[in-house]
Amino acid sequence: MRRAKISVIGAGNVGATTAHWCAAAELGDIVLLDIPATEGMPAGKALDLFQASPIMGFDAAINGSTDWAATAKSDVVVVTAGIARKPGMSRDDLLSTNAKIVGDCAAKIRDTSPEAVVIVVSNPLDAMVQRAFQVTGFPSARVIGQAGILDTARYRGFLAMELGVSVEDISAMLLGGHGDTMVPIPSCTSVGGIPVTQLIKPDRLEQIVSRTRTGGAEIVGLLKTGSAYYAPAAATAQMVEAVVRDKKRVVPCAVYCDREYGVGGYFVGVPVVLGSAGVEKIIELSLEPSERSALDHSIAAVKELVAAMNTLTGWKA
Ligand code: NAI
Ligand code: 2OP
Repeated sequence: MRRAKISVIGAGNVGATTAHWCAAAELGDIVLLDIPATEGMPAGKALDLFQASPIMGFDAAINGSTDWAATAKSDVVVVTAGIARKPGMSRDDLLSTNAKIVGDCAAKIRDTSPEAVVIVVSNPLDAMVQRAFQVTGFPSARVIGQAGILDTARYRGFLAMELGVSVEDISAMLLGGHGDTMVPIPSCTSVGGIPVTQLIKPDRLEQIVSRTRTGGAEIVGLLKTGSAYYAPAAATAQMVEAVVRDKKRVVPCAVYCDREYGVGGYFVGVPVVLGSAGVEKIIELSLEPSERSALDHSIAAVKELVAAMNTLTGWKA
């Protein structure tokens, strides 16, 4: 049977760790790609990861390159290319730098892997996935942003810590953008099937949600020189798995919503069915009025971000 071809663009922390999780789970053959200025770095990481395979017992071809030709005809392309926000850098600086990088990568993906499902990870996520959609011109089902699985995993982890139970027994759902406007849905959060609201008081639950909203910043504050990558990469690998194994996973992802949730043509985190075609279905939840208004607030923040990006890149909708 032919193995899937997975290309990971950007061989930095998130990219290399995504390759690691994907290889260990035998999701397919992997290409790690970075810019020419990194010279042997992607090839070195790929060779090192391959040399772990006889020890860990996984079969995968793993190659690193700075040449886009190596990624040709990928089934899945993961975009982690970009820079993280540095001290003194404005949000617009980050937005314009990463929009240029992600736009350049998207043009290459369009030309080298026209049938691929594209998973965008680069930040600011909700704008970068829109940029990849604009430039590839791919059907919206094949352009997906990773944020919700990570945010929900953080939430599930904090809930498990609070209750002293297995993370495996926590099921949860967060909607909206990747940032401080994400929207928890308590009616979709349970512990071994028990509604979380029966186990944790509302004010304590709100504190846990608040820690989840700033989950990325908490890691940056501890690491000081970079941002999270183990959990972001694990979340990304779960999306890759859903596509290459046609798992039909029900997970929150940043996907193009037009009439869905009344969004009007932007990428917002919502529950979807993820399979070999990419986004196979968007699931519309019925929301409480407070959840609806929090989601509207989050959608407004995404629209503002995309408008700023369109101005910086000169994109005309
Ligand atoms: P990193 O700095 O370790 O790696 C980024 C890599 O991208 C570097 O190796 C760089 O050379 C490469 N790169 C830059 N321009 C490129 C281009 N045109 N083509 C190919 N490669 C290029 O950064 P890290 O920690 O891996 O984070 C990557 C991105 O992911 C950042 O934007 C970060 O904010 C974002 N992120 C998003 C998360 C999410 O949940 N959506 C979670 C964690 C990180
Ligand atoms: C995170 O949530 C930085 O977006 C990244 O960790």
